[in-house]
Amino acid sequence: MRKVCVIGWPIAHSRSPLIHNHWIAEHKIPDARYEPMAVKPEDAAATIRDLPKLGFIGANVTVPHKETAFAALDRHDAMARRLKAVNTIVTTAKGLEGRNTDGYGFIANLKDRAAGWSASRGPAVLLGAGGAARAIAAALEDEGAPEIRIVNRTAARAEALIRDLGLKAARMFVETDAASALDGAALLVNTTTLGMKGENDVDLNLAALPKSALVTDIVYTPLETGLLRRAREAGHRTVDGLGMLLHQAVPGFEAWFGVRPEVTEKLRKLVLADLGMK
Ligand code: ATR
Repeated sequence: MRKVCVIGWPIAHSRSPLIHNHWIAEHKIPDARYEPMAVKPEDAAATIRDLPKLGFIGANVTVPHKETAFAALDRHDAMARRLKAVNTIVTTAKGLEGRNTDGYGFIANLKDRAAGWSASRGPAVLLGAGGAARAIAAALEDEGAPEIRIVNRTAARAEALIRDLGLKAARMFVETDAASALDGAALLVNTTTLGMKGENDVDLNLAALPKSALVTDIVYTPLETGLLRRAREAGHRTVDGLGMLLHQAVPGFEAWFGVRPEVTEKLRKLVLADLGMK
Protein backbone atom coordinates (compact mmCIF):
# COMPACT_ATOMS: atom_id res chain seq x y z
CA MET A 1 0.00 0.00 0.00
CA ARG A 2 1.32 3.45 -0.91
CA LYS A 3 -0.23 5.67 1.75
CA VAL A 4 -0.13 9.48 1.89
CA CYS A 5 -1.89 11.68 4.44
CA VAL A 6 -2.70 15.30 5.14
CA ILE A 7 -1.83 16.41 8.65
CA GLY A 8 -3.68 19.29 10.31
CA TRP A 9 -5.66 20.31 13.37
CA PRO A 10 -8.56 20.31 12.75
CA ILE A 11 -8.53 18.35 9.49
CA ALA A 12 -12.18 17.55 8.64
CA HIS A 13 -12.49 20.62 6.37
CA SER A 14 -9.50 19.65 4.19
CA ARG A 15 -10.30 18.99 0.53
CA SER A 16 -6.88 17.42 -0.11
CA PRO A 17 -8.18 13.82 0.28
CA LEU A 18 -10.88 14.53 -2.31
CA ILE A 19 -8.36 16.01 -4.76
CA HIS A 20 -5.69 13.31 -4.42
CA ASN A 21 -8.13 10.37 -4.31
CA HIS A 22 -9.71 11.75 -7.50
CA TRP A 23 -6.30 11.69 -9.19
CA ILE A 24 -5.50 8.23 -7.77
CA ALA A 25 -8.74 6.97 -9.38
CA GLU A 26 -8.23 8.89 -12.65
CA HIS A 27 -4.72 7.50 -13.10
CA LYS A 28 -5.65 4.06 -11.73
CA ILE A 29 -2.69 4.17 -9.33
CA PRO A 30 -2.61 0.70 -7.78
CA ASP A 31 -2.58 0.23 -4.00
CA ALA A 32 -2.62 3.95 -3.28
CA ARG A 33 -4.58 5.77 -0.61
CA TYR A 34 -4.67 9.35 0.65
CA GLU A 35 -6.20 9.96 4.07
CA PRO A 36 -6.83 12.83 6.51
CA MET A 37 -4.96 12.69 9.82
CA ALA A 38 -5.95 14.93 12.73
CA VAL A 39 -2.80 15.64 14.74
CA LYS A 40 -2.69 17.84 17.83
CA PRO A 41 -0.03 20.58 17.88
CA GLU A 42 1.93 18.84 20.66
CA ASP A 43 2.13 15.63 18.60
CA ALA A 44 2.89 17.16 15.21
CA ALA A 45 6.71 17.06 15.19
CA ALA A 46 6.89 13.41 16.36
CA THR A 47 4.17 12.28 13.95
CA ILE A 48 5.97 13.95 11.03
CA ARG A 49 9.30 12.32 11.87
CA ASP A 50 7.51 8.95 12.28
CA LEU A 51 5.72 9.08 8.91
CA PRO A 52 7.82 6.28 7.34
CA LYS A 53 7.35 4.09 10.44
CA LEU A 54 3.61 4.73 10.24
CA GLY A 55 3.66 3.44 6.66
CA PHE A 56 3.41 6.72 4.75
CA ILE A 57 5.43 7.58 1.65
CA GLY A 58 4.57 11.25 1.95
CA ALA A 59 2.19 13.84 3.34
CA ASN A 60 0.67 17.24 3.01
CA VAL A 61 0.80 19.57 5.97
CA THR A 62 -1.79 22.21 6.67
CA VAL A 63 -2.72 24.72 9.36
CA PRO A 64 -1.33 24.99 12.03
CA HIS A 65 1.59 22.61 11.40
CA LYS A 66 3.50 24.09 8.43
CA GLU A 67 6.22 25.74 10.55
CA THR A 68 6.43 22.72 12.90
CA ALA A 69 6.95 20.49 9.87
CA PHE A 70 9.79 22.71 8.69
CA ALA A 71 11.50 22.44 12.08
CA ALA A 72 10.89 18.68 12.38
CA LEU A 73 12.65 17.87 9.10
CA ASP A 74 16.30 18.39 8.26
CA ARG A 75 16.01 18.30 4.47
CA HIS A 76 14.09 20.95 2.52
CA ASP A 77 13.72 22.36 -0.95
CA ALA A 78 14.76 25.97 -1.54
CA MET A 79 11.24 27.39 -1.20
CA ALA A 80 10.51 25.63 2.11
CA ARG A 81 13.86 26.89 3.41
CA ARG A 82 13.04 30.42 2.35
CA LEU A 83 9.53 30.35 3.89
CA LYS A 84 10.50 28.20 6.91
CA ALA A 85 7.22 26.39 6.23
CA VAL A 86 6.41 23.02 4.66
CA ASN A 87 3.15 21.96 2.97
CA THR A 88 4.42 18.81 1.20
CA ILE A 89 6.60 15.96 2.51
CA VAL A 90 8.25 13.54 0.11
CA THR A 91 10.27 10.39 0.79
CA THR A 92 13.55 10.61 -1.10
CA ALA A 93 16.56 8.29 -1.24
CA LYS A 94 18.08 10.41 1.53
CA GLY A 95 15.01 10.46 3.76
CA LEU A 96 12.05 12.79 4.27
CA GLU A 97 12.19 16.13 2.47
CA GLY A 98 9.99 19.14 3.22
CA ARG A 99 8.81 21.22 0.28
CA ASN A 100 6.54 24.19 -0.17
CA THR A 101 4.24 24.34 -3.20
CA ASP A 102 1.83 27.08 -2.08
CA GLY A 103 3.50 29.79 -4.15
CA TYR A 104 3.71 27.44 -7.13
CA GLY A 105 -0.05 26.83 -6.79
CA PHE A 106 -0.74 30.56 -6.71
CA ILE A 107 1.28 31.26 -9.87
CA ALA A 108 -0.03 28.19 -11.74
CA ASN A 109 -3.62 29.24 -11.01
CA LEU A 110 -3.09 32.70 -12.51
CA LYS A 111 -1.35 31.26 -15.59
CA ASP A 112 -4.18 28.74 -15.98
CA ARG A 113 -7.10 31.17 -15.61
CA ALA A 114 -5.74 34.50 -16.86
CA ALA A 115 -4.30 33.73 -20.29
CA GLY A 116 -1.17 35.72 -21.05
CA TRP A 117 -0.66 36.88 -17.45
CA SER A 118 2.90 37.42 -16.38
CA ALA A 119 4.29 38.60 -13.04
CA SER A 120 6.81 40.79 -14.82
CA ARG A 121 4.11 43.16 -16.09
CA GLY A 122 4.24 45.47 -13.09
CA PRO A 123 4.11 45.92 -9.33
CA ALA A 124 2.09 43.40 -7.29
CA VAL A 125 0.07 44.52 -4.27
CA LEU A 126 -0.52 42.01 -1.48
CA LEU A 127 -3.15 42.62 1.18
CA GLY A 128 -1.96 40.83 4.33
CA ALA A 129 1.36 39.62 5.69
CA GLY A 130 0.67 36.12 7.07
CA GLY A 131 1.92 32.74 5.90
CA ALA A 132 -0.01 32.83 2.64
CA ALA A 133 1.36 36.29 1.83
CA ARG A 134 4.91 34.99 2.38
CA ALA A 135 4.48 32.11 -0.06
CA ILE A 136 2.89 34.38 -2.66
CA ALA A 137 5.45 37.20 -2.29
CA ALA A 138 8.39 34.80 -2.70
CA ALA A 139 6.82 33.15 -5.75
CA LEU A 140 5.99 36.49 -7.38
CA GLU A 141 9.56 37.68 -6.89
CA ASP A 142 10.88 34.45 -8.43
CA GLU A 143 8.49 34.97 -11.37
CA GLY A 144 9.93 38.41 -12.04
CA ALA A 145 7.54 40.84 -10.36
CA PRO A 146 9.42 44.17 -10.50
CA GLU A 147 8.09 45.31 -7.12
CA ILE A 148 6.07 43.83 -4.29
CA ARG A 149 3.94 46.11 -2.16
CA ILE A 150 2.62 44.80 1.13
CA VAL A 151 -0.44 46.44 2.66
CA ASN A 152 -1.11 45.23 6.19
CA ARG A 153 -3.03 46.29 9.27
CA THR A 154 0.02 45.57 11.44
CA ALA A 155 3.05 47.34 9.98
CA ALA A 156 5.57 45.27 11.94
CA ARG A 157 4.37 42.05 10.31
CA ALA A 158 4.75 43.51 6.82
CA GLU A 159 8.27 44.69 7.69
CA ALA A 160 9.15 41.25 9.08
CA LEU A 161 7.87 39.58 5.90
CA ILE A 162 10.05 41.77 3.68
CA ARG A 163 13.09 41.28 5.93
CA ASP A 164 12.73 37.54 6.50
CA LEU A 165 12.26 36.77 2.80
CA GLY A 166 14.99 39.20 1.80
CA LEU A 167 12.70 40.65 -0.89
CA LYS A 168 14.81 42.81 -3.17
CA ALA A 169 12.18 45.28 -4.36
CA ALA A 170 9.45 45.56 -1.78
CA ARG A 171 7.62 48.33 0.02
CA MET A 172 5.35 48.35 3.03
CA PHE A 173 2.16 50.41 3.14
CA VAL A 174 -0.18 51.06 6.05
CA GLU A 175 -3.90 50.51 5.35
CA THR A 176 -4.64 54.25 5.28
CA ASP A 177 -2.10 54.61 2.47
CA ALA A 178 -3.50 51.76 0.36
CA ALA A 179 -4.42 54.07 -2.54
CA SER A 180 -0.70 54.85 -3.05
CA ALA A 181 0.03 51.11 -3.11
CA LEU A 182 -2.54 50.56 -5.87
CA ASP A 183 -1.16 53.35 -8.06
CA GLY A 184 0.41 51.81 -11.18
CA ALA A 185 -0.02 48.21 -9.91
CA ALA A 186 -0.51 45.26 -12.28
CA LEU A 187 -1.78 42.73 -9.75
CA LEU A 188 -3.83 42.91 -6.54
CA VAL A 189 -4.00 39.87 -4.26
CA ASN A 190 -6.03 39.44 -1.10
CA THR A 191 -4.07 37.04 1.13
CA THR A 192 -6.10 37.76 4.28
CA THR A 193 -9.14 35.81 5.42
CA LEU A 194 -11.37 38.85 4.87
CA GLY A 195 -14.33 38.00 2.63
CA MET A 196 -14.59 34.39 3.74
CA LYS A 197 -18.25 33.24 3.89
CA GLY A 198 -19.14 36.77 2.84
CA GLU A 199 -18.33 38.26 6.25
CA ASN A 200 -16.20 41.40 6.64
CA ASP A 201 -15.26 41.99 3.03
CA VAL A 202 -12.05 43.76 2.06
CA ASP A 203 -13.24 47.38 1.95
CA LEU A 204 -10.33 48.77 -0.06
CA ASN A 205 -11.27 51.50 -2.56
CA LEU A 206 -10.14 50.27 -5.99
CA ALA A 207 -10.35 53.66 -7.75
CA ALA A 208 -6.54 54.08 -7.83
CA LEU A 209 -5.92 50.63 -9.36
CA PRO A 210 -5.23 50.70 -13.13
CA LYS A 211 -8.05 49.00 -15.09
CA SER A 212 -5.48 46.67 -16.67
CA ALA A 213 -4.64 45.17 -13.26
CA LEU A 214 -5.59 41.57 -12.49
CA VAL A 215 -7.34 41.00 -9.15
CA THR A 216 -7.27 37.69 -7.28
CA ASP A 217 -8.16 36.34 -3.86
CA ILE A 218 -6.95 33.32 -1.90
CA VAL A 219 -10.39 33.03 -0.26
CA TYR A 220 -12.57 30.65 -2.31
CA THR A 221 -15.67 30.41 -0.13
CA PRO A 222 -17.51 32.19 -1.72
CA LEU A 223 -15.85 31.71 -5.10
CA GLU A 224 -16.51 35.34 -5.94
CA THR A 225 -15.63 37.33 -2.84
CA GLY A 226 -16.84 40.88 -2.30
CA LEU A 227 -13.44 42.12 -3.49
CA LEU A 228 -13.60 40.08 -6.70
CA ARG A 229 -17.17 41.20 -7.40
CA ARG A 230 -16.26 44.88 -6.99
CA ALA A 231 -13.16 44.41 -9.13
CA ARG A 232 -15.15 42.68 -11.89
CA GLU A 233 -17.80 45.42 -11.79
CA ALA A 234 -15.04 48.01 -12.10
CA GLY A 235 -13.79 46.27 -15.26
CA HIS A 236 -10.81 44.28 -13.92
CA ARG A 237 -9.92 40.77 -14.95
CA THR A 238 -10.38 38.52 -11.89
CA VAL A 239 -9.29 35.01 -10.86
CA ASP A 240 -10.82 33.14 -7.92
CA GLY A 241 -8.74 31.31 -5.31
CA LEU A 242 -9.93 27.72 -5.76
CA GLY A 243 -7.28 26.96 -8.37
CA MET A 244 -4.46 27.75 -5.94
CA LEU A 245 -5.67 24.87 -3.75
CA LEU A 246 -5.89 22.53 -6.74
CA HIS A 247 -2.56 23.48 -8.31
CA GLN A 248 -0.53 23.36 -5.07
CA ALA A 249 -1.43 19.65 -4.91
CA VAL A 250 0.11 18.79 -8.30
CA PRO A 251 3.85 18.60 -7.42
CA GLY A 252 3.22 16.42 -4.36
CA PHE A 253 1.12 13.90 -6.27
CA GLU A 254 3.75 13.75 -9.01
CA ALA A 255 6.54 13.17 -6.47
CA TRP A 256 4.64 10.40 -4.60
CA PHE A 257 3.12 8.52 -7.52
CA GLY A 258 5.28 9.41 -10.52
CA VAL A 259 2.45 10.84 -12.63
CA ARG A 260 1.86 14.54 -13.14
CA PRO A 261 -1.89 15.05 -12.58
CA GLU A 262 -4.00 17.72 -14.26
CA VAL A 263 -6.22 20.39 -12.80
CA THR A 264 -9.35 19.91 -14.88
CA GLU A 265 -12.83 21.43 -14.95
CA LYS A 266 -14.06 18.05 -13.68
CA LEU A 267 -11.87 18.30 -10.56
CA ARG A 268 -12.91 21.90 -9.99
CA LYS A 269 -16.60 20.91 -10.15
CA LEU A 270 -16.01 17.97 -7.80
CA VAL A 271 -14.46 20.22 -5.15
CA LEU A 272 -17.08 22.94 -5.64
CA ALA A 273 -19.88 20.38 -5.18
CA ASP A 274 -18.18 19.12 -2.00
CA LEU A 275 -18.03 22.69 -0.73
CA GLY A 276 -21.77 22.96 -1.39
CA MET A 277 -21.23 25.41 -4.25
CA LYS A 278 -22.07 25.16 -7.92
P1 ATR B 1 -2.27 32.88 6.89
O1 ATR B 1 -1.10 32.14 7.45
O2 ATR B 1 -3.38 31.98 6.43
O3 ATR B 1 -1.89 33.85 5.84
P2 ATR B 1 -2.31 34.61 9.20
O4 ATR B 1 -0.89 34.35 9.39
O5 ATR B 1 -3.24 34.52 10.35
O6 ATR B 1 -2.95 33.65 8.10
O7 ATR B 1 -2.44 36.04 8.50
C1 ATR B 1 -3.66 36.66 8.34
C2 ATR B 1 -3.49 38.02 7.65
O8 ATR B 1 -4.78 38.58 7.51
C3 ATR B 1 -2.65 39.01 8.43
O9 ATR B 1 -1.97 39.84 7.52
C4 ATR B 1 -3.71 39.80 9.20
O10 ATR B 1 -3.34 41.12 9.53
P3 ATR B 1 -2.43 41.41 10.85
O11 ATR B 1 -1.03 41.03 10.49
O12 ATR B 1 -2.59 42.87 11.06
O13 ATR B 1 -3.02 40.56 11.94
C5 ATR B 1 -4.82 39.86 8.16
N1 ATR B 1 -6.14 40.07 8.77
C6 ATR B 1 -6.89 39.17 9.42
N2 ATR B 1 -8.04 39.72 9.83
C7 ATR B 1 -8.00 41.02 9.44
C8 ATR B 1 -8.89 42.14 9.58
N3 ATR B 1 -10.07 42.02 10.19
N4 ATR B 1 -8.51 43.32 9.02
C9 ATR B 1 -7.33 43.45 8.39
N5 ATR B 1 -6.45 42.43 8.24
C10 ATR B 1 -6.78 41.24 8.75
